[in-house]
Amino acid sequence: GCSKVPDTEVAHNPVIGFSQSGTESSWRKAHTKSIKSELKKGDYEVLYRNAFMNQEQQLQDVRTFISYKVDLIIIAPLQESGWDSVLRAAKRAHIPVIIVDRHIDTADQTLFLTHIGPSFKAEGNRAGLYATNYFADKRIDSINILELVGLSGTSPSKLRHDGFLETISCDHRMKISSTLVGNYTRNKAYDVVNDYLHSPKSKPFNLLYSHSDEMTLGALTALKENHIKPGHDVVIITIDGQENIIKKLSQGEVNCVVECNPDVGWYVVNAINRHFSGHQLAHEIYISETTFSESNINKIPTRNY
Ligand code: AHR
Repeated sequence: GCSKVPDTEVAHNPVIGFSQSGTESSWRKAHTKSIKSELKKGDYEVLYRNAFMNQEQQLQDVRTFISYKVDLIIIAPLQESGWDSVLRAAKRAHIPVIIVDRHIDTADQTLFLTHIGPSFKAEGNRAGLYATNYFADKRIDSINILELVGLSGTSPSKLRHDGFLETISCDHRMKISSTLVGNYTRNKAYDVVNDYLHSPKSKPFNLLYSHSDEMTLGALTALKENHIKPGHDVVIITIDGQENIIKKLSQGEVNCVVECNPDVGWYVVNAINRHFSGHQLAHEIYISETTFSESNINKIPTRNY
């Protein structure tokens, strides 16, 4: 006999549109992989778009998901501002939105269900804590800090700075003497640090606080080319915890790695499952993170990024 052809629409797995901001670092690639693989494990269909660090492209990617009538949209935003109109369009189409990693700045908090990511301010605090502990018993009158921030207009750039400043202000010898913008990329960071070292206005510094590992890798090259020994002449604090920077920590070129955890996939899928089964979500979900330095170097879990 013939099997009966169902006359109702075939129920499909929910379709999730995932808009990622770029692929600028192995951290970012691990972030993408974590979300995609957990979604697939959770039996969701995934439509993925990479905006290659272009905000216009990312807005367009989200509009495409809306026109496809996906069941939910995940956005890892490049920039903090500029989201209101596209999020209003998603709301009109009854498509829920989850923001991951960086924050968005919107007057209407009902435009997204939840934000899932690191506490960037806590990361800055941890970096500051390492700095104050490191210099606590050193007999130095003033400690000059060179800060290397990521892309302007992104929440980690602001919050990692704020958290760090808050903590180091407990030691009056510490001062951020210059802040350079490295866009979260190795090449840009190499250029700005190298230019700084050659500038007549540059001051000697005791500490480099870099907001991302990729930028740190560029900065380390620039320092070494200019005969400054990282980890020795200058204390190096970095954020992320990529495999290649943990290696620098064990080689003594980096002093402290503040982890930024890219493994958010489980949290994201858990939130989506809860939403689809009718539960209310917390508006902010922080993920767990730690700090690595010479004190726990033998206990660092294997990195997958
Ligand atoms: O938004 C998180 C930051 O973006 C990571 O620290 C950095 O590596 C990435 O580029």
